[in-house]
Order: sequence, then structure tokens, then C-alpha cells
Amino acid sequence: MIIGVDYYPEHWNEEMWVSDAELMAKTGVKLVRVGEFAWCRLEPSDGCFDFSWLDRAIGVFAERGIKVILGTPTNCPPRWLCEEHPEVLPWGSDGKPNPIGIRGHRCYNSPVFLEYARRIVSKLAEHYKDNEAVSAWQIDNELEANICYCEACSAKHREWLRRKYGTIETLNKAYGNVVWSGEYSSWEQIDPPYGGYNRAWLNPAYMLDFSRRAAEDVTEFCNMQAELIRGYIPNAQITTNTWFCESMPDFYHTFEKLDFVSYDNYPTVSIPHDTENIYTHAVHLDIMRGIKRKNFCIMEQLSGTPGCWAPMSKTPRPGMIKGYALQAFAHGADTVVFFRWRTAATGAEMHWHGIIDHSNVPGRRFEEFAELCREAESLADIRGAELRSEVAVLYSTESEYAFKLQPQTDGMYYMEQIKLLHSAFAVYGVNVDIIGQHEELTGYKVVCAPQMYITDESVARRLYDFAEKGGTVILTNRSGAKDGNNNCVGEQLPAIYARLAGCRVEEYDPIGWDTVKVKFADGEEFTAKQWCDILQTDTAEVVAYYDGNFYKGKPAVTLNRFGSGKAYYIGTVGEKRLYRKIALDILENMGIDHIEGLPDNVEVTRREGGGHSARFVFNNTDVPQSFVIDGERLDMQPFEMKIQTVCAPL
Ligand code: GAL
Ligand code: ZN
Repeated sequence: MIIGVDYYPEHWNEEMWVSDAELMAKTGVKLVRVGEFAWCRLEPSDGCFDFSWLDRAIGVFAERGIKVILGTPTNCPPRWLCEEHPEVLPWGSDGKPNPIGIRGHRCYNSPVFLEYARRIVSKLAEHYKDNEAVSAWQIDNELEANICYCEACSAKHREWLRRKYGTIETLNKAYGNVVWSGEYSSWEQIDPPYGGYNRAWLNPAYMLDFSRRAAEDVTEFCNMQAELIRGYIPNAQITTNTWFCESMPDFYHTFEKLDFVSYDNYPTVSIPHDTENIYTHAVHLDIMRGIKRKNFCIMEQLSGTPGCWAPMSKTPRPGMIKGYALQAFAHGADTVVFFRWRTAATGAEMHWHGIIDHSNVPGRRFEEFAELCREAESLADIRGAELRSEVAVLYSTESEYAFKLQPQTDGMYYMEQIKLLHSAFAVYGVNVDIIGQHEELTGYKVVCAPQMYITDESVARRLYDFAEKGGTVILTNRSGAKDGNNNCVGEQLPAIYARLAGCRVEEYDPIGWDTVKVKFADGEEFTAKQWCDILQTDTAEVVAYYDGNFYKGKPAVTLNRFGSGKAYYIGTVGEKRLYRKIALDILENMGIDHIEGLPDNVEVTRREGGGHSARFVFNNTDVPQSFVIDGERLDMQPFEMKIQTVCAPL
């Protein structure tokens, strides 16, 4: 396994590069990421390029056996460019270019920006094409699906809609624009969502298309850069580093034509003690692995006290630096790059701490990091080994957008649903995949399809087919509620899923922070919150009833036999235990290997391949844990990882 660090040669003097690289090499660092914000040093004035400093920096690392991931610097156009061509900047809803001074100040659709971006990326690729130290490329940095108000974006959006709908009448109909007299009579009337309104006031169909197009911009921008790089380096390994942000890109499209997924991983430093809080980062890591259904890279990993735009939070507790990196390995990362080697002394991020503090005196975190580097070397055999899962959770970018645009009830979030179902199975030590909803489902025994809100017929068909052939599906509330345009369907819910679920929603009650009891047939009781679908069964049997409110005695959870498989429908949002009960039933019925009795937030995963098999046991809590797996007693310190490797027969 490979450990790397993010490094900013442009922030330090050259003597420091040498002492840093020496310490890195001695510690076991194999990789540095450089360059992603350095445009003003790479092209100090229009058309004048200076890569000599970067050559020297890369040379310093290469001489010590350290490889480089080179970032393209398009996140931060230099001031001269923004001054000469303000149209490279994203424009705000006030009709003016956004002020500069932070970063990410570029519009992916600005023709002038694209011209300059292409030029710097091409120059870099041409210059470094034969440099063997450069082992991979990172495009830009944390690309978001920005909504920009510049003329280029508006024009592109109108063109996008024209291609999608053909005529303005079709578009008016698709959006239901007659509501509040919103019908367009020409394409030119279509603007970005001006005004500082809460997005939920705007037409949801129009807003969903906006999000889709903004996400496509990210994909196009990535593909454009990747193509340029491949023009010079046909077998270049190309990625971009992604994360969970307000304006999410579409992970699946963004990475489709890139070589591997990279994720910026900042797990929490303050472990919440509310037992209903699902704080594990395992979910995020499994989402990352699921994007390309292959192993991935952490491009930025928690190294020290986070802070800067927000007040600083706690410093990583002992064990976290090492434990969280090993947790990433446990979920399919083969490389973990830490953000950052040393804390910045200048600039807005001076309080977002690296492995080494401002003093440049290696301390407690560095020692733990050094230990991690040694352990990573000893795991070389399992590099490339895969997680194989029989349980999958489906993730829909479109539903994620649509729920963000129109929150449904207090406290209910799409990501929470993903987490609830993921953790319901993960708590039994089984590998869980989280995959895009358009993926093939062969090979799985269980597919959790939470809140299939925006309907896609091909996805529904695949789920029907999966159950028909013997798989178990879990559906939850809000499924089938919207058509592809984000309009409400004119049917009883779960509409397209009604036959699979074998039940219908008579009425729903968005109870927000209120709670209601739900009782299973065996008498076990659970607390439910946020949402109650009052169900009526057709072919399904009742698994649990509401035990309160005016719908006391009505079904809350059902189970339908479908073909040779089954479909659960969970009409409410339960406490964690409710999902675990259903998951355990399924694991037992489907004959899936699992472990009972693991403490909360102790994670067990397995990677296999290349003749090796490794079981990872991680105590993702801040207290010691003792428990038994396969008759063996394990006593684990907070954030400790135990990796049990066996050489499996080939
Ligand atoms: C990431 C970003 C890095 C750095 C880090 C810590 O989101 O990519 O450049 O800002 O957060 O704040
Ligand atoms: Zn724009």
C-alpha cells in the first residue's frame, strides 16, 4: 500500500524541499501531489511559461524515489487572466463577476477560460510527457456542479434544453410552466435561477435540469483535460479528487472516462456519542469504491486539526491518523495521500493542519504517520485485492439533487437513508457495495434501493428482474414519487414499484421531529420518525404496524414475495435497530456469511485477490472494545485496526 502527502513547493524555499523530501523518503512516503493551485507561478504572464521550479521540485522528489501526482492548476486562474478577461470568472446572480481572492474562480463554460485552460494543460502534458517521476495526473481540484450566471452558461443551458425538448411548447409542458403563469414564449426567456430565493420556491423540474446541466459541465471539463493529457501521454493515469459538497457533481459521469477515483477524506475528529448518529466514514469510502466498482485513491487525508473558514476543531485523537488511513485501505483504497505534509504558514488555510506543525518540528502526529508508513509497506501483498460483496445499496445522483431541491420533512435526508441501510448490513461484518443505480445487479443477493424518488424505468425494470430471479430488494418511502422531470406522478405510491412492493401508500404523514412506535409481529417495538407511509397491502404480508397516531394498526413495513425473490417496503424512517433486524433476517435467509455481536462502530471488511485474503477489523470508536469473532477474543484500543492476512490458495 502506498502512502503519500500533498505538498506545495511554491509555498516553501528550495532548501526546505530537500530537507522535506529527505525526511519523507526516510519515513516511507512514496508519493507527493503537487501543482494544483500553482497557475500564477507556472504562467506568470500571458503566454510566458515557467516550469523550471516545478522541474526542480519534481527532481528533488524523484532523486529520492518519490513519485509525483501532478495537478492541473485550472482551479485558480492567475490575476492577470481575470483582469484581462473578467469573463473567465463565474458570475453571480447579481449579474457581476464573482470577486476573486479565494479559489475555484473560473467558469467551466467560458470560452476564454477554456482556451487558457487548454493551453496550460497542454503545455504541462507536453513538458512532462517523458518524466517518469510523474505517475498520475489530477484534474483541477474538487470540481463542483456550480450554477453560474454568465452569458456563456445561459447560452449553453438554452442550447441544452433545446436539444432535450426540441420545442418551447414541449418544454413548457414538461415543466408544467402554466403554474404561476410561467410559460416561456421563446428560448431567450430562459434564465439561470436569479434572485436569492430559497431554491424550493422555484420550479422543481426547471431546477433539476439546471443541476443536471451543471453536473455535465464538470464531466465535460474533466474529459476535455483528460483528452489533452492523453494526446501527449496515451497511457497517462488520470483522476480528479472529489468529495461531498453542496453542489455535487455526478460521480458516475465524472469518472466514467477517467482512470481511477480519488476522494478527499476528512473523517470526524469528534466522535458523537448519540447512538443514532452514523458517523463512520465507511459509507463514503464504499460510495467511492462503487463509482467505478474498483479500488480507489485517497487524495487528501485528515492530518491534523481542521479549521480556517470555521473555528478549529479538535486535533486528531491518538490512533486516528493511522486508523482512518487503514480504514480507507479496508474499504478499497490502495493509496492514501495526506493533506498535507506541513501546515501552511500563510494564506487562508494556515489553520488547517498538516502532519507537521508550523514549527516544522515533527511531533505526535508525525510519529503515528511514520508508523503507518511502515505498516503500509508490510501490506504490499494485498494491494489490488478487492472487496467482494453480496449486498449492494443503490445511489441515485438525481434523487440526491431532487431531495436537496425540495426537502421533504424535517430531519430526513437522502444520504441518511443510504447510511441507515449500509450500516444495517455492515454492522454484521459483511462487505457492502454502494453503486450507481444504473449498474448491473448480477452477483448480488441483496439490493437496497432507498428512496427511489426520481423514476427511471430502466432502473425499476432491473430491480423487478433482480427480485424475480431470487434476489431480495429493500425499498423505502418516497419511492416512485416523481417522474423523470421531477414532477409528481399521478398514481398511488410507490407507483412504478407498487407491484414489486405488493403494497400501496394510502396516505402519508411527514411527521418531522415527531416520533411514533412501530411494532413487529414478534412484539418487538421500535421508534420511527420523520415520515410515515400509511400502507395498504395487495400481495404483500405485513411485517410491522404503526402503534400510534390515527393510523395505529396500519402497516408500516411489508414483505412481498415476487418471482423467486422478495421485496421489503419500509414506509417510515426507523431507528438503527429496525433496519438491523430486517438485515439480520435477510442475511440468515439468503445464507450470507456474517458475524453477530460486533459492538457498534466496530467494522469488519475483507479484501481478497492475488492469492491473498485480509480481514480488517477496525474499532471506529474512542473507547477500547472487547469482543469475539470466530471464537477469537479481540481487545482493541480506540481507532485500532487489526489486519488478519492469510495466504489463500491460488
Ligand atoms: C480540500 C481541498 C484542499 C484543502 C483541504 C483542507 O477540500 O481540496 O485544497 O483546502 O480541503 O481544507
Ligand atoms: Zn458561467
